[in-house]
Amino acid sequence: MALYLLLLMLTACAAVPQDLSGKMFTFPEQTNTARVELMTPRDNFNAVTVCLRFFTDLKRDHVLFSLATPSKYNDFLIIRHATKDAINVHIRSSNAAFAGHEYKLNMWHSLCSTWDSESGLVQLWFDGQPSIRKFNIAGSNIQGRTIIILGQEQDSHGGGFDLNQSFVGMLSDVHMWDFTLPSCEIQKYMEERNFRPGNVLNWSALEFQIKSRVLLENKQTICCKT
Ligand SMILES: *[C@@H]1O[C@H](CO)[C@@H](O)[C@H](O)[C@H]1NC(C)=O
Ligand SMILES: *[C@@H]1O[C@H](CO)[C@@H](O)[C@H](O)[C@H]1NC(C)=O
Repeated sequence: MALYLLLLMLTACAAVPQDLSGKMFTFPEQTNTARVELMTPRDNFNAVTVCLRFFTDLKRDHVLFSLATPSKYNDFLIIRHATKDAINVHIRSSNAAFAGHEYKLNMWHSLCSTWDSESGLVQLWFDGQPSIRKFNIAGSNIQGRTIIILGQEQDSHGGGFDLNQSFVGMLSDVHMWDFTLPSCEIQKYMEERNFRPGNVLNWSALEFQIKSRVLLENKQTICCKT
């Protein structure tokens, strides 16, 4: 009986990878609780690429991707800085700001960011356009138990959420690689063509847990008039 209960608990806790092709997470309200936790057993990165698509009408600061380890809560963080009209990429708590994007509300945007610890260079791609390649931090790996959260910004390892940095809107096609994805592959991602899925986070085989009010829905497509 005890063993049966244990097995039941284990199956309830273990997230089974799901194919989320054609789907999106909807974050329908501003809270400091609603989030999606993404699971990876990986705990050491000397390079990272993250790609995602998002849709929002937020005019304030908001988080797009938050990866924390026990030693650095902003170990890989992508956050919109509204007053400076920038998208900031924090790596190992070190910040690089990218400005000059057409951050239009109420439409889908495609975003990718790459970094490697050898050169220390970080780059941001936004709707098909690459940014300049900026120095951020070199010679230091992202290391320790990884907690990745969509919808909330971590100010502690897995917590410390701030209502005023929460994400409201839709997120889709989240991928993460443990290397810098070549620019041709990024271009393919941006154009929604066939590309190499993430080897750390793969939207076609995603392990995740929804906490509080986040909905997994079909992506809405525009119907053609006949
Ligand atoms: C969020 O922002 C509003 C408006 O700027 C402010 O009044 C409120 O105190 C902030 N709340 C938190 C938890 O920081
Ligand atoms: C991503 O998931 C799909 C569907 O399970 C699988 O076919 C593919 O091999 C995965 N790719 C990687 C790089 O893990």
